[in-house]
Amino acid sequence: MSSLLIRNISRLWQTDADNSRQIVKGADMATVPSLENAWLLIEGDRIHSFGLEADPDAPTNAAQVIDATGKMVLPAWCDSHTHIVYAGSRESEFVDRIKGLSYEEIARRGGGILNSALKLRETSEEELLEHAWRRMGEIQDFGTGAVEIKSGYGLDLESELKILRVARKLASISDLTVKTTFLGAHAVPPEFKGNADGYVELLCKTMVPKVVDEGLADYIDVFCDRGFFTPEHTDRILEAGARHGLKAKIHANELDYSGGIQAGVRNNAISVDHLEYTGTKEIACLLDSETMPTLLPSTAFFLNLPYAPARNMIDAGLPVALATDYNPGSTPSGRMAFVLSLACIKMNMTPEEALNAATINGAKAMEVHYDHGRIALGAMANVIITKAIPSLAYIPYSFGSDLVESVIIKGSLR
Ligand code: NIG
Ligand code: FE
Repeated sequence: MSSLLIRNISRLWQTDADNSRQIVKGADMATVPSLENAWLLIEGDRIHSFGLEADPDAPTNAAQVIDATGKMVLPAWCDSHTHIVYAGSRESEFVDRIKGLSYEEIARRGGGILNSALKLRETSEEELLEHAWRRMGEIQDFGTGAVEIKSGYGLDLESELKILRVARKLASISDLTVKTTFLGAHAVPPEFKGNADGYVELLCKTMVPKVVDEGLADYIDVFCDRGFFTPEHTDRILEAGARHGLKAKIHANELDYSGGIQAGVRNNAISVDHLEYTGTKEIACLLDSETMPTLLPSTAFFLNLPYAPARNMIDAGLPVALATDYNPGSTPSGRMAFVLSLACIKMNMTPEEALNAATINGAKAMEVHYDHGRIALGAMANVIITKAIPSLAYIPYSFGSDLVESVIIKGSLR
């Protein structure tokens, strides 16, 4: 078995010697366990051991040895919400928004998600794969080691299956850990204009069973928000998913107090994502659940939305996860480090809270927490080696900089 030893790490972050830290909530989010002047030994695709250079039994040799003097090592990012299988791009809507149109106005005019759906329907599986594969490479270079990928730009049976097949193919050819989510309920397609109920019926009776029959999805998602799907639609769709064994991860409360958070919680969603509109009622509802609140601040940045009230959530005792939402309409970026910067700058999260949210809690939000998001014995060897930096806070502080020197995925240096 191949072995890789990283030596003289100035600080090794997110260490979990007794393998117990699989979610971090409330005040605990302010702390990240770490070791100063440390080593990390990887065997095959797993973390074998770690410790202090000062230990008398610190290893000095392995098949491959990396000297990380002045550099830090942290778990690779766990990006639990993306839409990276898409066709074309939407910079013309970006310009429309600069000129004064809102995201919702553009959607009402048939742009937005429907614009991406028309392009995707005309794009072959091979071409979609080629573009999404490039995005996978890009996010890996940014330091992402596990990613969730949603459908939702097809909006008819064949096109949704096409996206999910591409996502499953990405999972099989990439070394990143991939979870896939069926988001047929991303928007009402043109064929069902004015007949959302008819589309929900098709989703529940035909599309969900077919997606499950083909084994293409781990989760089901609904865009439960003003102008898209109602909480009642969401209940019907999530119940259909549950009958077929799909757990929920949903889009909620991005555009309004939509009832999406409550719908997610009552359907035992693994996560509810976006949450720009979250008040005391929504926080109380989340506190009474196992659902992970997942925040996507680069979407609020790109669309000029209010930011989710991360501080209120954490101060109330909730866990919070951070993800990119990488997609052509609301976040054409998969850079997790920028998400951490926004979390700190715009949502008043501390660098430690942001790191916990982007690693342990991100892993939890896609149910890979047992072996991702931490430096623990036996965990997947997905780690980032930074450039020489003075502190953890330097990462979100130097927003826009690329501080990733190298990325190790499944134990091999990329
Ligand atoms: O998560 N909010 C819903 N869906 C995507 C954006 C979709 C689009 O505009 O293409 C999101 O932001
Ligand atoms: Fe999204």
